[in-house]
Amino acid sequence: MPRHPSPNDPSITNSPSSSSSVGSNRISQVARHLSSSATSSLKGQSTPPTMSSQPPHPALLIPGPIEFDDAVLQSMSHYSESHVGPGFVATFGETLTQLRQLFQSTDPAAQPFIISGSGTLGWDLVAANLVEAGESALVLSTGYFGDGFADCLRTYGADVTKIDGPVGGRPSLEEVEVALSKKKYKILTVTHVDTSTGVLSELKNLTATVKRVSPETLVIVDGVCSVACEEIAFDAWGLDGVVTASQKAIGCPAGLSISFFSAKAIEAFNNRKTPPASYFASFKNWAPIMKNYEAKKPSYFATPSPQLIHALNTALSQILTRPLAERFQKHAEVSDRVKKAVKDLGLEVVATKPEDQAHAMTAIYLPENVTIPDILPKLSTKGVIFAGGIHKAIATKYIRFGHMGVSALDPNRKDIDLALDALRSGLSECGYQKA
Ligand SMILES: Cc1ncc(COP(=O)(O)O)c(C=O)c1O
Repeated sequence: MPRHPSPNDPSITNSPSSSSSVGSNRISQVARHLSSSATSSLKGQSTPPTMSSQPPHPALLIPGPIEFDDAVLQSMSHYSESHVGPGFVATFGETLTQLRQLFQSTDPAAQPFIISGSGTLGWDLVAANLVEAGESALVLSTGYFGDGFADCLRTYGADVTKIDGPVGGRPSLEEVEVALSKKKYKILTVTHVDTSTGVLSELKNLTATVKRVSPETLVIVDGVCSVACEEIAFDAWGLDGVVTASQKAIGCPAGLSISFFSAKAIEAFNNRKTPPASYFASFKNWAPIMKNYEAKKPSYFATPSPQLIHALNTALSQILTRPLAERFQKHAEVSDRVKKAVKDLGLEVVATKPEDQAHAMTAIYLPENVTIPDILPKLSTKGVIFAGGIHKAIATKYIRFGHMGVSALDPNRKDIDLALDALRSGLSECGYQKA
């Protein structure tokens, strides 16, 4: 059953000052401000007492970074502390343990990592540690980010075979099975949600297929745009690695590479014949540090960001307060609303089949005669920021709407309504009328 949280529900908004009356006041104020002075800075504006502690600003509804909860942001103003002092070591250790829950894993031999960097560092972790030069990698690509993962693997000398889905779709299980039966692959990578297209890949049957046809192949997931908004049952599905980042559905500012690897992946690393092909991204350097932190022992390889770790700890504490299934369900409900509104407007979603559609973002084809430079500034004056397209085959033809984290879950925020209203009126101002 969908849950209807109360305004003070800590899983949704964990701060007494948090967005509790952000609602229409904030929206109209932002919209007024932006339309009267679209280019002036919002800096220095006093925040009305009933609003979030954040200055008024347009709702950032790109597919990451996303809007932040006040409590997460406030955690970053923690006083300075030593990265090897007991207070911070305890927080870091607890945060690593929280990741086990987030990934639904109880295997003590699986290894979480939190390393300063962005989502891309996750690709480097995989390429530098799990594949040796000349070894084969099968990359399933559903857009720009799948192609990027392939590029990263090639940079480290992997022999990459890429299977591309059609624009707006994913490679079929049959294609994957044929590829796996023709050649031995050390790893298979899949982008769970490609942020360039909003295409969702299915992981459970995919992993079962890999295990049946090529059981030694490691299954690695790019979960940058899926962790904390799409179901990921790491142990149950038999995944070997998920790499993600702090700034999307986890709802923490950018700057952390977050990853989780199975015992089998760690063993594959331990059995390498050659040393890892990176210094900063080496499991050899980081795994002992992560183990020590989780055991609440001080340890050092490279300085972490205590403030970001505090923010991540707060974000994960909020997420884990309620069952994950509720969180995924709520994202799915918001997604259904958005996709229906898009359809009602007479527009198409880039991900063609409903089962291939991500639940925390929507890539929307623009009507003919409406361009990205026409529509995005109009949305911005209405207090909403969307992103343009980045898939090379269709980049100028579509826009992207991120509906994840607090914007989708906090019942006191009206971000989704605001965005849909802005889209309707913005398109109409561009001269669009549904046929
Ligand atoms: C699916 C996916 N993978 C990888 C990345 C790269 O992450 P970052 O930009 O944090 O380096 C992104 C960024 O948006 C992404 O959406």
